[in-house]
Amino acid sequence: MPLVPMRQMLDEAAKGGYGVGAFNVNNMEQIQAIMEAARETRSPVVVQASRGARKYTNDKFLYHLMQAAAELYPEIPMALHLDHGNSFETCRSAIELGFTSVMIDGSLREDGKTPSDFKYNVELTRKVVDFAHARGVSVEGEIGTLGGIEDGHGAGGSGLEHLTDPDQAVGFVRETGADALAVAIGTSHGAYKFSVKPTEAVLKISLIKKIHELLPATHLVMHGSSSVPQELRDQVNKYGGRLKPAWGVPVEEIQEGIRHGVRKVNVDTDSRLAVTGAIRKVFAEAPEKFDPRDYLKPAREAMQQVVAERMRQFGQAGHAGDYQAKTLEEMAELYAGAPKAGSGCSCCCGGHGKGKKK
Ligand code: G3H
Ligand code: 13P
Ligand code: ZN
Repeated sequence: MPLVPMRQMLDEAAKGGYGVGAFNVNNMEQIQAIMEAARETRSPVVVQASRGARKYTNDKFLYHLMQAAAELYPEIPMALHLDHGNSFETCRSAIELGFTSVMIDGSLREDGKTPSDFKYNVELTRKVVDFAHARGVSVEGEIGTLGGIEDGHGAGGSGLEHLTDPDQAVGFVRETGADALAVAIGTSHGAYKFSVKPTEAVLKISLIKKIHELLPATHLVMHGSSSVPQELRDQVNKYGGRLKPAWGVPVEEIQEGIRHGVRKVNVDTDSRLAVTGAIRKVFAEAPEKFDPRDYLKPAREAMQQVVAERMRQFGQAGHAGDYQAKTLEEMAELYAGAPKAGSGCSCCCGGHGKGKKK
């Protein structure tokens, strides 16, 4: 199957009432792990690359690896998504390369650290939406900022400093026409999200419910959604790692989010833990080995296992054959026919042409 526009994938997920895992990649083995997990569970999937990943792999390698995946797994609908784009230029270059979806994270300034203001965020996101939709490419925006820092990206902090304001979310979607909305509900990137099992005091699932009530036709995105399972941390530490105790986002909380409009669930850290644990095991148990295949193969298998588990838990398993991929040209025509964002369209669809006024 050719790469699928993410908007179509999330529309289908909304119809089916499930979430779609969006898994970060930096190399061939991670792409293979995700595609094998998708085949094993018959899942549509979002494969996403951060700016750091694009720099690490080089865009051309990344894009052609994804094309190889599309050829080798023709039954799997797959969206190629830019994670946390920081500027119009970053998004433009991803779109010109062939990404079928981009995130513009205008909640932060271009340095990827400093929280921006609403006006800046709306103007930047709108500019990306105009450029992307004319080419049939989907756009994820963000309102509120997540906690933590990954590879220099992020506002830092606990994740509770800049929670999404539901009324601002409504204005943001109306003004920008973004296809999906990342919301800040207390999660953060990385392995250290919460010091104890999170309750509503720190992980505000109620905020998702509120936003979904106000924006029923908008696909919500949960970032920082790794569960950081104890067994993955234990595996790393057993073989010489030094991870501190921490809690991630419990899967049942993600599932509650999915029941209330979350359609895209971002996971990176759990894959990283699985890969590192498997490699450490080989290094510790067979120090005589030096062929990279001896440790990258188990690493790939360990990542496939955790990704397949998440696919089943998010509900996307079994949905790979539900629909035919729309082309970007078809999507561009659909966008061209929909009411323009910020044009005074009176429904709550943010210009999607879907949804009813409440
Ligand atoms: O946004 C966070 C993802 O985990 C990507 O991390 O920027 O280190 O590639 P990265
Ligand atoms: P985790 O660090 O929880 O895996 O979050 C990944 C993410 O949100 C990527 O955008
Ligand atoms: Zn993120």
